[in-house]
Amino acid sequence: AWDIEVARALITRLSSLDGAVMPILHALQDEFGYVDRAAVPLIADALNLSRAEVQGTISFYHDFRDEPAGRRVIKLCRAEACQAVGCENLVDHLRTRHGLAVDATTADGDLTIETVYCLGNCALGPAALVDGELVGRLDAQRLSALCEGRAV
Ligand code: FES
Repeated sequence: AWDIEVARALITRLSSLDGAVMPILHALQDEFGYVDRAAVPLIADALNLSRAEVQGTISFYHDFRDEPAGRRVIKLCRAEACQAVGCENLVDHLRTRHGLAVDATTADGDLTIETVYCLGNCALGPAALVDGELVGRLDAQRLSALCEGRAV
């Protein structure tokens, strides 16, 4: 869980590095699973940056979360090759069939669905990373199963 004293110590330890903002954000995410908003002013002060600059870096890199992830994480590829084989239909399917939004976590904290851009599995698109495991040729039926926590 988020602990401001742990975060403060970590930021202090890394703040003398060149270009410290990225190492600090990675270290925070490794420690807590996400970068809590309360870390933004701490980083900004330590590195003499504006809060907007720090926030901008967090938003720019899709790898950083600003809230804890769900217990399960589906990273859905929405880059070009997967678009060509219908990944946007899967996004529609999530919304209409399951009421799930992409780049969001369900209110019960069970499931996070995130956009990623290319998993290097383009030949087997639409591709997704499901709790770290690569899944190819995803279709609506298999995606439904994954959302419901069934094996595919
Ligand atoms: Fe989706 Fe490459 S475009 S895996």
